[in-house]
Amino acid sequence: MRLQKYLAHCGVASRRKAEELIINGDVKVNNEIIIDPAFDVGENDIVKYKNKRVYLSKKNKYFMLNKPIGVVSTASDEKGRANVVDLIDTDSRVYPVGRLDIDTSGIILLTNDGELTNIMTHPKYGVMKKYIATVEGTPNAKALYRLRNGVRIENYVTGKAKVKILKSYPTDSVVEIVINEGKNRQVRKMFDTVGHRVKSLKRIEIGEIMIGGLNQGEYRELDSTEMEYIQRLKNAKI
Ligand code: URA
Repeated sequence: MRLQKYLAHCGVASRRKAEELIINGDVKVNNEIIIDPAFDVGENDIVKYKNKRVYLSKKNKYFMLNKPIGVVSTASDEKGRANVVDLIDTDSRVYPVGRLDIDTSGIILLTNDGELTNIMTHPKYGVMKKYIATVEGTPNAKALYRLRNGVRIENYVTGKAKVKILKSYPTDSVVEIVINEGKNRQVRKMFDTVGHRVKSLKRIEIGEIMIGGLNQGEYRELDSTEMEYIQRLKNAKI
């Protein structure tokens, strides 16, 4: 990273001001004064401003993964099954935001940003999660009404949901369902309650973050638009 940018990322000064500091001879790399703002700082270099070491602030990491079926979404599993964290190649200690069942595929976020889990998973922040479910049979108008307006699962009544039949076949159908809660196996239990067992389930969106073309097992860091969305959510925190 350029020395000028490095200093700015350490919080020493703005990029423009950092350039001045470097040209003034206030900055050392490995105990040598460097006056070139474009000097390339390596990972193991020691950077000092006015003879005091400066450190890069720890940047949070945000990944999205298309969780494959058969992988658990806890960071560690007592049965030693493959987990989502194993699929991400990073030095940061990231952990999954919320859960997907072992037999559900689709988008899951992983981060070391402790604040995010609460925002993404608590209904009061209203972050919608969109799923595509293949279910037995085709829900009729009454079943759709119940799914949309709340069904009792154990001792909990689900909140409002958006539900749309995308395709209907003789024995099953493909249904899109959007909820902003995340109770254990919620979508499966909701469909069970109205008599349409879920045969397969995939999550395709979390708020404004969409799975796009990621195949099962693939992951990437969130891009700048997705990071702006995360930032907006954090700023709007109640
Ligand atoms: N609902 C489910 O039934 N399973 C999931 O993994 C997520 C939501």
